[in-house]
Amino acid sequence: MGRLPVGSRASGSGSPSVSDRNLLWARLDQAVQEHDAPLPTPVFVVDLDAFDANATDLVRRAAGTPIRLASKSVRVPALITRALARDGIQGVLAYTLREALWLHANGVCDDIVVAYPTVDRRALAELVASPSAAAAITIMVDDVAHLDLVDAVRSSPAVPVRVAIDVDAGLRVAGQHVGPKRSPLHDTAAVVALARAIVAREGLRLVGAMTYEGQVAGLPDSVPTARSRSMVVRRLKALSLTQLAVRRREIADALHELADLEFWNAGGSGSVEDSAADPVVTEVAAGSGLLVPTLFDHYRSFRPVPAAFFGVPVTRRPAPGVATVHGGGLVASGPAGPDRLPTPWAPAGLRLTGLEGAGEVQTPLSGSPADQLQIGDLVWFRHAKSGEPFEHATTVQLLSGSRFVDAAPSYRGCGQAF
Ligand SMILES: Cc1ncc(COP(=O)(O)O)c(C=O)c1O
Repeated sequence: MGRLPVGSRASGSGSPSVSDRNLLWARLDQAVQEHDAPLPTPVFVVDLDAFDANATDLVRRAAGTPIRLASKSVRVPALITRALARDGIQGVLAYTLREALWLHANGVCDDIVVAYPTVDRRALAELVASPSAAAAITIMVDDVAHLDLVDAVRSSPAVPVRVAIDVDAGLRVAGQHVGPKRSPLHDTAAVVALARAIVAREGLRLVGAMTYEGQVAGLPDSVPTARSRSMVVRRLKALSLTQLAVRRREIADALHELADLEFWNAGGSGSVEDSAADPVVTEVAAGSGLLVPTLFDHYRSFRPVPAAFFGVPVTRRPAPGVATVHGGGLVASGPAGPDRLPTPWAPAGLRLTGLEGAGEVQTPLSGSPADQLQIGDLVWFRHAKSGEPFEHATTVQLLSGSRFVDAAPSYRGCGQAF
């Protein structure tokens, strides 16, 4: 493999430097070379040193408020367990009820909140058939229809089902709603009406509430190439937080009259300190902050330390300054645009071409390092979103220093697709 300068870690804040990236390249290359058997590509890697440092930073930012792990942004049971073993990280915020049942059945966690409403009758039937699963798992609702579904799958309310209400955390400004379009419950009266419906039903327990302020937690606010947009985003975040704090308090006081809530979940990796600062909030959700995909590179609130990579081999050298790798096209969900594409990361200096982008089977890369790459060398990419790349992986190599110290199955590797 051709050599690029590697250097010591740059100090200060901001994105990893070129020398950080080339140092990572050297570590990954050494781990691959010294691995006891050739690895099938793409090679999926999580850098445990970075993962652990990110976990420490999330806990620091939460300043004593427990973090509930957003498992959709991890999707590797061993990494979920690793994060949960830390002080300050407790419980899982799951993305489907089937996932929650699986995590519970496999002893990964016994405190699971499903963050999104479910209409999966089979999974609901499993939940109400298992007193221990029903005691460990909380489902999310924002509509009476969600309650009806629980009733529809059971003949008796003998096993109580734990329920939390998803309260819209969007900003209302100039007649517009800014934020994720999820729960219809915005005003106190609407939340209280659903809470009354829950407590009036036999076999349901209202145990929590959630306000996911995605317009704060999920929007980069310090993008070097979009300074004025970032300034607008920062203002919008400040306004959102001020408006939400007032509404959240009012809703919490009203719910207090109806039920003793065990938790109030809020936030995400981009808003940990802001969400934790609200006295109504008892726990903050975070997942992406552990692996730090590229969409989390430009937040004022934390310094990104990327921890997840996938390596694909150079198979062709079509022209000077171009190396073509096999695979690469792992594109993220969300509004289609360049920011959803994977980023060639190590060696530093490679880029996707405008004509072909990131191809499913082949991806040409241009840039000066291309000439130093030989056929068979690996190029390492970062995905735009956390967790999603592992839908393409069965096994994830765990890197520590310059060695793969273990290999862990992803959900897919455990035969699961949630
Ligand atoms: C309900 C909810 N909470 C929290 C999060 C934040 O997760 P992350 O920290 O991975 O951005 C998300 C992400 O989409 C979410 O949907």
